[in-house]
Amino acid sequence: MNYEERLENVAVLGAAGKMGSGIVLLVAAEMADLALRPENRSRKYVLHAVDVSQRALSGLMRYLREQARKSAEKRIVALRKTYADRSELVSNGEIIEAYINDVLDVVRPTTTLEAAAEASVIFEAAPESLDLKLKLLTVAGADNPREPWVFTNTSSIPIQEVDAKAKLGGRLMGFHFYNPPAVQKLVELIRGQTTRSEVAEFAETLAKKLRKTVVSSRDVAGFIGNGHFMRDSLYAISETARLGRERTFVEAVYMVNRVSQDFLVRPMGIFQLIDYVGLDVCQCILRVMDPRLPGQGLQSPLIDRLLALGVKGGQNHDGSQKDGFLSYKGGRPAGVYDPDRKSYTPLDSIQAACDAALGPLPEPALPWKAAVRHPAKDDALAGFFGKLEGLKTLGADLACRYGARSREIGLGLVSDGVAAAAEDVNTVLLTGFFHAYGPINDYFKAKVEK
Ligand SMILES: NC(=O)c1ccc[n+]([C@@H]2O[C@H](COP(=O)([O-])OP(=O)(O)OC[C@H]3O[C@@H](n4cnc5c(N)ncnc54)[C@H](O)[C@@H]3O)[C@@H](O)[C@H]2O)c1
Repeated sequence: MNYEERLENVAVLGAAGKMGSGIVLLVAAEMADLALRPENRSRKYVLHAVDVSQRALSGLMRYLREQARKSAEKRIVALRKTYADRSELVSNGEIIEAYINDVLDVVRPTTTLEAAAEASVIFEAAPESLDLKLKLLTVAGADNPREPWVFTNTSSIPIQEVDAKAKLGGRLMGFHFYNPPAVQKLVELIRGQTTRSEVAEFAETLAKKLRKTVVSSRDVAGFIGNGHFMRDSLYAISETARLGRERTFVEAVYMVNRVSQDFLVRPMGIFQLIDYVGLDVCQCILRVMDPRLPGQGLQSPLIDRLLALGVKGGQNHDGSQKDGFLSYKGGRPAGVYDPDRKSYTPLDSIQAACDAALGPLPEPALPWKAAVRHPAKDDALAGFFGKLEGLKTLGADLACRYGARSREIGLGLVSDGVAAAAEDVNTVLLTGFFHAYGPINDYFKAKVEK
C-alpha cells in the first residue's frame, strides 16, 4: 500500500477535542487534495471522525467548514487550477464552496468506535489516560485483519508501552502535534523500540506534506517538549516556595510569573502557561512521568492542592482562558489565587510593591514580541541578558538562575538521549512554545543553586 492508498481510509479517535479537531482538519484537507488529483478520481477517501460526544461532533463540522473556507480563500489561485476542468465553477465563491464541500465530503462524524476498524491509518487524540487509550485501541489490535497503523498524540506516555499493551506489534508511533495542530508548526515524532520502519517513513512523509517542522524524540515519558516544560514548571514552583518564605505566596507567584516572562523574554509567564495548558493536564503528565522516571521528584503537591480546591485553568469553549494560578480579565492576568483564602487577590493590590522589589528591566527594554521580530535577534538578546546579569537586583538574580536551570534541563534531555542534539531541544522550545531563543544558549551560565 503506497502513501495515497493508505490515506484512503483514516480514523481519528477523540476527533472533536482540541487536538482531534485540528488533526481532522489537517488530514481531511490532505485527503481532499489527494482525492482531487485526476489519477485518484476512482478512489473514495473517507475519514471517520470518532468521538463520544455528538454535540462536540456537530461543533467539529462547523469548525471544519469555517477553516476550510479560510484555507480556500488563501489558496484561491491554486484552487482555480485544481478545478480548471469544472467549467460550471466560474466565480471565486463557487470554487470556494466546491472546495469546502470536497473537504467535508471526506469526513464522516460518528460516535461508533467500530467505524474505525476499517481504517488503514488511525490517529488517536483521546484524553491523556493510558486506560482510555488502550480501550480505544482495541479497535486496531491483533484482531483487526487490516493491521492499521496508529499515530498517537499522547503528550507523555511511552509509545512502546502503549504498543505492547494494545498488542499493536510495532504499528504504533508517537505523532505529537502541538496545540492548535492546524497552526503550530512543530510535530514531535516518537518511535517505539519496535515501531516498524514503514510506519515511521509514512509519518515522516505525512508530516512533510502537512508542512510541519519535525523533531524526533526518544521514547521517554514526556518526550522533549513536556520533558522541558514539566521540569521548568516544577522549578518555577520551587522558586515560588523559596520566595514565599520572605513574601506571601501570592506575591511570589506574581514575581516568578513576571520574571519568567519579562526578564526572560518569553511569550507568557510560566504560571500563565500552566493555566493555558490546564493544571489537570499538567497533573496527568506528571503522573505519567514520575513513576517512569523515578527519583527525579516529578510531582507537584501545589498543583494537586489547587486542583483539589477546584482551580483548573484550561480554556472555555469560546477559547477564552479559565482562571487557574491567575485570574483573567479580557485574556490578561488580573489576580493571583490564594489557596489559604480560597480567592483571587487582585494584581492592583500587590503589583507596584512586587515590581519595586524585583527592580528594573535592562535598558533598552526587549519585550518578547520585539525580540522575535528583531533583525539581529541574537545580538539583541545577548545585549539584554548581558546587562541583566550586571544589574544585581532580585529580578535579575531570579531570572539568571531560572535561565540557567532551563539550560540545565535542556542539557539533561540531550545527555539522557531524549533529544539527539541541543538543536532539537531548542527547536522544540522555539517552535512548539514560541520562545525567542532556545534554552541551550550562552546567555546564562549553568550555575544552579540546588
Ligand atoms: N491540549 C493540548 O495542548 C495538547 C497538546 C499536545 C498533545 N495533547 C494530547 O492530545 C490528546 C488529546 O488532548 P486534548 O487536549 O485534545 O483533549 P480534549 O479533552 O480536548 O479532547 C478529547 C476528545 O476525546 C473525546 N473522548 C473522550 N472519551 C472518548 C471515547 N471513549 N471515545 C471517543 N472519544 C472520546 C472527548 O469527547 C473529546 O472530544 C491527549 O493525549 C493530550 O495529552 C494535548
